[in-house]
Amino acid sequence: MATPTTSFLRFLFLSVLVFLCTLDNLGFALQPRELESEHLTHMHTLNVNSLIPSTTCSPSTKESFDDPSNHYGNEPNYACPIQISFFLDGWKDKSSNKRASLTVVDKHGPCSQLNQDKVKAPTMTEILEQDQSRVNSIHARLSKTLGLNGLRASKATTIPAKSGSTIGSSNYVVTIGLGTPKRDLTLIFDTGSDITWTQCRPCSKSCYQQKEPTFDPSKSSTYSNISCSSSVCSQLSSATGYSPRCSSSTCVYSIQYGDKSFSMGFFGKEKLTLTSSDVFKKFLFGCGKKNQGLFGGAAGLLRLGRDPLSLIQQTTTKYNRVFSYCLPSTSSATGHLTFEKTASSSSAIKFTPLSKLTENTSFYGLNTLGITVGGKKLSIATSVFSNAGTVIDSGTVITRLPQDAYSALKAAFKAKMKSYPLTSGFSLLDTCYDLSKYKTVSIPKISFLFSGNVKVDLDVSGILLAQKISQVCLAFAGNSDNDSIGIFGNVQQRRLEVVYDVAGGRVGFGPAGCT
Ligand SMILES: *[C@@H]1O[C@H](CO)[C@@H](O)[C@H](O)[C@H]1NC(C)=O
Ligand SMILES: *[C@@H]1O[C@H](CO)[C@@H](O)[C@H](O)[C@H]1NC(C)=O
Ligand SMILES: *[C@@H]1O[C@H](CO)[C@@H](O)[C@H](O)[C@H]1NC(C)=O
Repeated sequence: MATPTTSFLRFLFLSVLVFLCTLDNLGFALQPRELESEHLTHMHTLNVNSLIPSTTCSPSTKESFDDPSNHYGNEPNYACPIQISFFLDGWKDKSSNKRASLTVVDKHGPCSQLNQDKVKAPTMTEILEQDQSRVNSIHARLSKTLGLNGLRASKATTIPAKSGSTIGSSNYVVTIGLGTPKRDLTLIFDTGSDITWTQCRPCSKSCYQQKEPTFDPSKSSTYSNISCSSSVCSQLSSATGYSPRCSSSTCVYSIQYGDKSFSMGFFGKEKLTLTSSDVFKKFLFGCGKKNQGLFGGAAGLLRLGRDPLSLIQQTTTKYNRVFSYCLPSTSSATGHLTFEKTASSSSAIKFTPLSKLTENTSFYGLNTLGITVGGKKLSIATSVFSNAGTVIDSGTVITRLPQDAYSALKAAFKAKMKSYPLTSGFSLLDTCYDLSKYKTVSIPKISFLFSGNVKVDLDVSGILLAQKISQVCLAFAGNSDNDSIGIFGNVQQRRLEVVYDVAGGRVGFGPAGCT
């Protein structure tokens, strides 16, 4: 692809950036040499103000990798060298590979169309409460299917039959088109299981308030009902955890979420438009006639799990079960959700195999081997991670670790942060600092080690969560025991390019996929 001219331009660009970065880094020259290199290699310098999201939207360009100058211009941090090598690698440099890219925004942030005073944004405490009910649902669901050892099996029997059969909603949304003529609908997306659904007119009894006009199947020329005798109707049992019902021979789905939210209605087939060139004529979805819950004004849910009825499986012929996303660093930035046929072959993306542990579930399992804090690997026996297992979930906010692993992480983090005043915790976060007297702080870098020799360096935005500047917390939590599965959550995934190559049985991570 690269002609001599573009190679030269890249070289020139690289040289200029290296020069600029060098100038930038001279700022540390007055510190003792060791401290300086320790600082650059193992610590992040964080602007305290950046912990509180801006109230105005600063969108990333959708194709943020294709235009290095633009991306660099948006870059708030100092991670110069990484950015440079990354651009030149250009994992998006593949114009021959067709793809569909949707913009991802935080549903309550200033970039979201749903962000209106009509729908009150939840507080951080409420978000974390919902997060815990999602985690409880994932634990319940997995301990039911995985009964790997006596402990898990015995725990599973204590779980009431209906609780946690499916998991509640995440905090990121994308806009898709449904029907003919096409209606734009903003849906919460996540890697959770079950089916994609949207509220449908006429609602029977209850629909919650949504921002966009509710989808009306009678106004679409391409909608059709799925009949009860259809084989896809019977697949609903495994996808939703609830047996389908029948109403005048139309297949009826129902889903209940851990937090008492639910959706039920007709199982239908409709034209789905992701982008103008990516249209699916017979997309199976739930046309929700009765819906209730904390969906923050979104029209429904878009599910990217591994079940036969998920969007990923339904679009296999076109995308071969490959998709990727980048979740933005703050609620005032944007990321992307991209579907494409071939997983990136860029060296910037490191792939780890999907774990065998969860191969028969709808979750994406990873093999965690360790964690480093400030460049030092924590002394946690690998059995701590392998006994519990790990899944990656775009809808869980805070990463959950086996108790032993969390204790070690917390101790190492506290040791590196000992010059900052501790303060009380809130909700599930117990390691918090009062940073109100600081403009910038130095926080230790954190990396996750996964099988396949993959080291994922968390972005600086993926370490702390702020209730307010006087209460800034380590954004991790321990499970209540050593055996429940660990979850790699969405705060820790911020700004990472996360590539799901389901057909290839692997998940890839790259740095700085969006702002
Ligand atoms: C779908 O089925 C329901 C219930 O049987 C019926 O009321 C509705 O008119 C059907 N819609 C279409 C487009 O056939
Ligand atoms: C998954 O299912 C396959 C086929 O039924 C089985 O051979 C395999 O052992 C299962 N894996 C796990 C981890 O249970
Ligand atoms: C987790 O395991 C450690 C030993 O590795 C033990 O001390 C601790 O009590 C366990 N925690 C729970 C909740 O079982």
